[in-house]
Amino acid sequence: MKKRTIAEPYKIKVVEPIKVTTRKHREKAIKEAGYNTFLLKSEDVYIDLLTDSGTNAMSDNQWAGMMLGDEAYAGSRNFYNLEKAVQEIYGYRHIVPTHQGRGAEHIISKVLIENGDFIPGNMYFTTTRLHQELAGGTFIDVIIDEAHDPAADFEFKGNVDFNKLATLVKKVGAAKIPYFSLQANTNMAGGQPFSMENLKELSEYFKKKKIKIILDATRAVENAYFIKKRESGYKTKSVKTILKEICSYTYGCTMSSKKDHYCNIGGFLATNDEKVFTNAKELVVIYEGLHTYGGLAGRDMEAIARGIYECVKDENIAARIRQVEYLGNKLLKAKVPIVVPIGGHGVFLDAKKILEHIPQEQFSAQALTSALYIDSGVRGMERGAVSAGRDKQGKNIYPKLELVRLAIPRRVYTNLHMDVVAESVIEIYNNREKIKGLKITYEPEKLRFFQARFKQTSWRRG
Ligand code: F0G
Repeated sequence: MKKRTIAEPYKIKVVEPIKVTTRKHREKAIKEAGYNTFLLKSEDVYIDLLTDSGTNAMSDNQWAGMMLGDEAYAGSRNFYNLEKAVQEIYGYRHIVPTHQGRGAEHIISKVLIENGDFIPGNMYFTTTRLHQELAGGTFIDVIIDEAHDPAADFEFKGNVDFNKLATLVKKVGAAKIPYFSLQANTNMAGGQPFSMENLKELSEYFKKKKIKIILDATRAVENAYFIKKRESGYKTKSVKTILKEICSYTYGCTMSSKKDHYCNIGGFLATNDEKVFTNAKELVVIYEGLHTYGGLAGRDMEAIARGIYECVKDENIAARIRQVEYLGNKLLKAKVPIVVPIGGHGVFLDAKKILEHIPQEQFSAQALTSALYIDSGVRGMERGAVSAGRDKQGKNIYPKLELVRLAIPRRVYTNLHMDVVAESVIEIYNNREKIKGLKITYEPEKLRFFQARFKQTSWRRG
């Protein structure tokens, strides 16, 4: 029988108008924004692929839950619903809500890291690494080499390289490593999963060394889906079961509910450890709010609780990944260099390869992001040298990956929107030699990509 089309497992109840602008308007807008898409006004954007964080469409059930917010200062009923959802779906005993993921990262870093510690992980994430550094630690990347190569078509590019890990352990000693920072569906590598086999091995390795694994569960549902699709022994298991198994090998997690849970705000820290829980509760009241709301309204906690049950449904996660693949496959067909395999939360353009005439010192991914916006009003995000920032000596870090991320919000755009995006990327690719490099005119000291400003250069390589 001919392969049949599978449509989204939902229909649309509310729509939000978006505006097509002229090229002239966009040229002015991006110049005024210092060629940084973070500084654009959202109303000047047509299709917003800046991030999949907090930009998702909640379900009618989540919105109904918003009306059931118990806005008590202490002991809100929505907190208990959230606690129950995390216990049931993720399997951790204790939870501390936070305003978003980085709130949880701040707290876990302060609880577990001491000055001079080392935190290995499967590639950095901007806010995660910064909180580890602010707590006195140094992040060490021990992801497999394939993760740094956009063209390496390996199914589990989020995997840990045990040789790199063993070298670190030998060099600094297990006592200097408070925990391993394990990111599900590694964002900066292009939304790439680890395998269950790799995680099991990591867990065995650390049992002997008494090192904890802290999971960044932000996109763990997407990781679980890839395990189901790609790893032998998991085909018939549900995403829900696989997610629980992932968490079972870890000591606790930080979570940004703005991704997998479809929420506009929220996050939490979860753990099975009484002592970590007690310490985290002491800190959350200082930085976020009482331990039964952590900077969130009761209604937000209810939306998260409901989102947790929704996101592990196989049909929901399958539809989400299908749309990302739809866009990715269109670009692959047109021979545009992108990160392969196609990631979980977006399609990542290989700016180094696309803009060979622009050296990395002129921030080719930032330049490509601007060019895409000017062409069609599609907003992406730089994930290269600007995001990587500077080292402790103040020198620019030039990562192997110089990417433009087109992150797809969940349940927000149709595949026709994806067609528009693909057409624009292909157009730009075909006229790539016209794009100019950029020079920084202002940069903040930390997380510079959010607010840095640039101007166009005229200098070109060769
Ligand atoms: N961990 C990962 C893997 C993330 O992608 C993010 C956020 C965080 C932690 C922090 O969570 O934003 O709720 O404080 N990523 C967003 C993005 C910003 O666009 O990828 P947060």
